[in-house]
Amino acid sequence: MARKTAQPEDGILVTRNLVKRFGQAMVLDNISLAIEEGKTTVIIGPSGCGKTVFMKHLIVLERPSAGEVFFHGKRIDHLHERDLAKIRMQFGFCFQMSALFDSLTVYENIVFPVRQHYKAVDEKALDELVKQKLAMVGMDGYQQHYPAELSGGQKKRVALARGIALNPEVILYDEPTTGLDPITSDVINELILKLQRELKITSVVVTHDMNSAYKIGDRIIMFHKGKIIADGDAEHIRNHPHDVVQQFIQGKVGEAELAALRLGGTRFETQFMPEDFR
Ligand SMILES: Nc1ncnc2c1ncn2[C@@H]1O[C@H](COP(=O)(O)OP(=O)(O)OP(=O)(O)O)[C@@H](O)[C@H]1O
Ligand SMILES: [Mg+2]
Repeated sequence: MARKTAQPEDGILVTRNLVKRFGQAMVLDNISLAIEEGKTTVIIGPSGCGKTVFMKHLIVLERPSAGEVFFHGKRIDHLHERDLAKIRMQFGFCFQMSALFDSLTVYENIVFPVRQHYKAVDEKALDELVKQKLAMVGMDGYQQHYPAELSGGQKKRVALARGIALNPEVILYDEPTTGLDPITSDVINELILKLQRELKITSVVVTHDMNSAYKIGDRIIMFHKGKIIADGDAEHIRNHPHDVVQQFIQGKVGEAELAALRLGGTRFETQFMPEDFR
């Protein structure tokens, strides 16, 4: 089924015929997608299929090889860095491995983006802002802790608090639950839902975690080989007829991957002899 080319006014963020190549490799092959304001759009797909690269295009951390990116109907992919900096202020990021600064306290981590963007800031107002943002993620009281003193889930929550420090319109999350246990992952899911409900934030979430995708996604989009192969709500994705989609959501290995593993297995057996393990 051919997809309709998205138009600039179709969503808060729109990509039109977006193509990205790295050398010979075609990573994004004509992606037209309109992201709806106030909703949570989830992007899934196998490792290396271009999810992070796509997300970077939404704030022009990568420039397209062809095609366009629009924010509020305005083309942004060709803007200069200085103009992009202003636009990026309206975004919160929670990127893959979104590292907090280890040498800074939780407090300093959260005020970092604020100090970057505003020259003069009232210290009292900052204290209040940090308190409010940490309270939103259930971490008020941890202001003076260093990241090394926090668990993985607590770090993600602080990263989220930092992501909302500038009251963004849009938050981009890249693998927010990766590496967390199921219960902690669910805390992050609930937080994403809460931010969307209470702050009416538009969220774009890249994830491998189908539980998370079903729970938070108003719409789930699957990328495969640089194209969109599925697009719809959780029900649509669960019942999708395409094998590749079913294999992915059920966590099954496809035939091609199995064949590659079998080949690898033969090599593996001949590489190691029993005496290697004595
Ligand atoms: N700066 C770059 N230069 C060259 N190739 C790149 C660059 N960034 C990404 N790629 C390639 O683009 C492809 C897509 O990468 P991307 O990081 O978007 O994958 P992904 O879907 O986010 O995977 P994962 O689920 O593992 O995070 C990969 O083949 C990657 O090697
Ligand atoms: Mg990625």
